[in-house]
Parts: sequence; structure tokens; C-alpha cells
Amino acid sequence: MFKLFSKAFVFLLPVVFGLNGCSGEEAATPQTQTDQHMQQQNASSVKQEKFGSVDGQDIIQYTLSNPAGMEVKIINYGGTLTSIMVPDSSGQWGDVLLGFDSLPGYLQKENPYIGCLVGRYANRIANGKFIVNGKAYQLPLNNNGNSLHGGEKGFSRVVWAAKPLPETNSVQLNYHSKDGEEGYPGSLDVQVTYTVTNINELKIDYLATTDKGTPVNLTNHAYFNLSAGKDSTVLGHTLTVNADRYTVVNDKQIPTGALDAVKGTPMDLTSPVVIKTNIDKVPGGYDHNFALRRSASDGPELAATLYHEGSGRRLEVFTTEPGLQVYTGNFLDGSLTGKYGRKYVKHSGICLEAQHFPDSPNHPSFPSTLLRPGEKYRQTTIYKFSTK
Ligand code: BGC
Repeated sequence: MFKLFSKAFVFLLPVVFGLNGCSGEEAATPQTQTDQHMQQQNASSVKQEKFGSVDGQDIIQYTLSNPAGMEVKIINYGGTLTSIMVPDSSGQWGDVLLGFDSLPGYLQKENPYIGCLVGRYANRIANGKFIVNGKAYQLPLNNNGNSLHGGEKGFSRVVWAAKPLPETNSVQLNYHSKDGEEGYPGSLDVQVTYTVTNINELKIDYLATTDKGTPVNLTNHAYFNLSAGKDSTVLGHTLTVNADRYTVVNDKQIPTGALDAVKGTPMDLTSPVVIKTNIDKVPGGYDHNFALRRSASDGPELAATLYHEGSGRRLEVFTTEPGLQVYTGNFLDGSLTGKYGRKYVKHSGICLEAQHFPDSPNHPSFPSTLLRPGEKYRQTTIYKFSTK
């Protein structure tokens, strides 16, 4: 049985197991993280601290925590998640998110969207072209002749307005994207609310409205490693994805329009699979959109489960979205150094990006991403943590 962790359980554990009783290199990092976490953690919900500044605007780091001690940090630069502290099955706290120690890490050109919000259109649009209401639009081509993740800055490299909402253990972020920004039609008002619930979920609610028809596809680009640094890669994690089909892509990762069955292929993650089992049979590694099984409900449904046996940590992803981009950090190459001095090598982390299918504006058979004036774009994704 999987269990949710409780504060009482966590506070008793150091006494029962003896925090200083561990020895050897492996124990050093989690022990430090647990110590720091125990000192800093208190039941209050939204803390704020200055994290730096960008173009004269303050970048603030917000800390959301719940009574069980789960703690999530977010900055208003790119609406970026900078840390998620959760315990393992023996009560040792660890940060399960890739990220950087300080703002310059996030600002560097080479930052591969670590932890940030992505929009106006997450994933790829072929040749950066689409047509809305008979008018052709051209986006900047920032990825092999295609548009990726909303353009040069998108929503990931901009400063969001932020408002803490302590009553709900949330922080609300707002961004106004101007008509024509990054080539997209219409002014888009975007609101993203991060909430930490008492059952150890990080809930992300997205809302957007426009004054002209525009494609919209929003997501978060968190990289997870549930070992909290004990394993340098996620190859030993077990992954389940609730999808029978995936969008087939060409050599530039643009959908061909085909939705192939996963059955009998390395893309079959419908029952738990250790990531390293088949990854070598997937050219380049997993970087695919899975078409999620959905019931008739509009609410968030289970999309994927990630489990790390060594720590007992489990992450379940629930979403309202039709797709999940599973990206196993294939382009990380060891050239970036993140938090705790860790080098981000290939497969250091995995992104589970809930979203619409890539290049939907050019595939009428895919669920539509068109948002019209008077309509509301909504999406909810929940990352729920527990241990086994
Ligand atoms: C995409 C990858 C891309 C990465 C950038 C992912 O969402 O699927 O192809 O390289 O983002 O960090």
C-alpha cells in the first residue's frame, strides 16, 4: 500500500532511525537536505524571499508548504518551480526537482526550460506556421526550422506578476501577452495558480482569455528525479503512462498526423516499466506525446505514475489534458551544473508535461487548441507525492 506521509511520522523518524547514524557518501546529501528542511520548515503557508532581479523587476521566491511538511518553491521569473521537498519512505527529505542554486542559472541561455511555465504554445508548431480565421501567422523558428515552446522568450523567460494566497496555500501568477508577441494573434491574459494541498499534491490551475482567436497550449516543464540526487539519472525509475496511442513524429519531432498503438512497441508504458528497459530502442530516448486514455469526465484523470524503488517515492500525475509529453532529458549533456553541485547528464531528470498534442493547429484531427474571444482556456494538472 502506498501511504501519504504525515508530519508526526516524519518528525519521529529521526529519533527512531538516528539521523547521525548513517555513514558514507551516499547519505551525505539527503541528510543535509533533511536537516535543513527540519530547521526551515514550519506550518505557515506562503513565505517570500528576494531571489534577484531582471530588468529592474524583483524576482521573488515563494515557498508553499503544508502541515505534513511538503514544501514547494516557485519564482515569478518564468513561473518556475525551483524546489519540491518530499520525504522518502524512511522519512528522509529530499528535493526531487532539477534546478539551479540562484537566478543566473535560470537566466542562462542554455537553460533547457528547467521547471518553468511554457506557452503560448508548449511543444512544436511545424515551420512556425498556422492559420486562424483565414489569416496566416509566422512564429520565430527556434528549433530545427520549427517553433518550440512559444518562441524566443515565450512565457518561460518573462517576469510574471505574483500574488500569494495564504488562505489556500497558493501563489497566483499573471502574465499579459500582447497581441503579436512572438508572432501570435491576440492579447492573451494568462493566470496560473500553484497550490500545495494537505494531501501532498502540487496543483497547477491554468486560465487564459483572449481578444482574438489564437492557439493556446500551456504546461509546466519540471524535471523530476525522485531519488533526490542519489541516482544521477532516472533510468532506474519505473514509469507507467495511461495511454494506448502516441503521436508519431518525423525526424524533426513534428507529428506526421498518425496516432500509433503503443502495444508491442517500446512505447508501451501501460504497465510499470523501468525506464532503462526499452529506452535504447527509442531513437534519442523518450520525447513523445502520449494520447491519454480519458473517460467522459472533464476533471483531472491519472496520466502517469513515476516510482523510484530506492527511495520509495512515488509521483502520480493527474490532468485534464488529452496528452502527456514524456521527455527523459535526452539533450542534457553534463554541461550544466544545478543545485547541490549536481551535473545534469543525459537522463538526469524526466519531464511529464501535460498538454495538447504538438502541432495541433496544423492537424484538424487532433483536439483543438484554438481559443476564441469570450471563451476560457482552462487546464489543471496535479503532481501528487506519496511513498511505498
Ligand atoms: C521537448 C524536447 C525539448 C525540451 C527542451 C521538451 O518539452 O519535448 O524535445 O528538447 O523540451 O528542454
